[in-house]
Amino acid sequence: MSNEPLVLGIETSCDETGVGIVRGHTLLADAVASSVEEHARFGGVVPEVASRAHLEAMVPTLERACETAGIALSDVDAIAVTAGPGLAGALLVGVAAAKALAISLDKPLYGVNHLSAHVAVDQLEHGPLPDPCLALLVSGGHSSLLRVDDVTSSVTPLGATIDDAAGEAFDKVARLLGLPFPGGPHIDRVAREGNAVSIDFPRGLTARRDLERHRFDFSFSGLKTAVARWVEAREASGEPVPVADVAAAFQEAVVDVLTRKAIDAAVDQGIEDILIGGGVAANSRLRFLATERAAAKGIRVRVPRPGLCTDNGAMVAALGSEMVARGRVPSALDLPADSSMPVDRVQF
Ligand code: KG4
Ligand code: ZN
Repeated sequence: MSNEPLVLGIETSCDETGVGIVRGHTLLADAVASSVEEHARFGGVVPEVASRAHLEAMVPTLERACETAGIALSDVDAIAVTAGPGLAGALLVGVAAAKALAISLDKPLYGVNHLSAHVAVDQLEHGPLPDPCLALLVSGGHSSLLRVDDVTSSVTPLGATIDDAAGEAFDKVARLLGLPFPGGPHIDRVAREGNAVSIDFPRGLTARRDLERHRFDFSFSGLKTAVARWVEAREASGEPVPVADVAAAFQEAVVDVLTRKAIDAAVDQGIEDILIGGGVAANSRLRFLATERAAAKGIRVRVPRPGLCTDNGAMVAALGSEMVARGRVPSALDLPADSSMPVDRVQF
């Protein structure tokens, strides 16, 4: 194991400054500094605030990761960094830091896709990825269904949200219900006390007509509006809003569509393994329903532990390590930070 490559990964695409260190598929350190509290009063991530926080957190987070892993920077064999997609200014901080490290240490640099990294991270927990596998990536910034034949080179988008991301919907509905930002974990918690079938909220893009064009796409903005209307009507009537019931019914609507479409895509593609990643993968109802529904079709579900589902540096290191293992050519040192890096481009 000690001759496996030591790879350092840097993630700064949104509001988490992450530095992860892996040796092969073994996680040695996963240091994360989050600026989430600085965004809380705005109810969403403010790009300029995130960029500044990355600048301040970069060096201390790097130092913390090295200390935890018990390594010196000079021990590192390769550097990987999220090159996109994400917030342009935030990505730039990580890419600049990674270039500085690669140049000063004279090590190869891999500028990689954030979404592929969300897939690759599961190897740290559950071992090699089955080829092919179907990935459902759901977070505050993305909601995608991907066919992954090789996480370092062949990722094919099957569908994505046409409006809000799943996590964004959780955050907006939480705000409506007076729950703190980010709302996902709070809705998850509150929903446990609620009745998920008490309100029938719409399931986006599941009508026959929509399925013709958007079979594997998602839409959550209609659902968000339906929840807002329902809450407004209840408030206007003078009756208290049943927060737990609304949270549970909303969560059920999201999770129902996510699991149905993911399983439909897996069956359609003849794939027997579904991997769920991104911050929303921490949702307890999503984990339960996905596993239950997939099992009924003979499909296995893999979900990394919550700390690896949300943005972190370990996922980038995991993908970088796989790049090295599969002999991929490193990126050029003038690689860009690409806020709209296409899903099917794994590496620059
Ligand atoms: O992957 P992530 O850390 O960052 C992005 O790339 O966006 O995901 C953050 C998102 C937030 O929208 C948050 O509300 C959501 O993940 N989230 C959850 C849960 N934990 C985090 N959503 C639903 N249930 C949860 N338990
Ligand atoms: Zn993410």
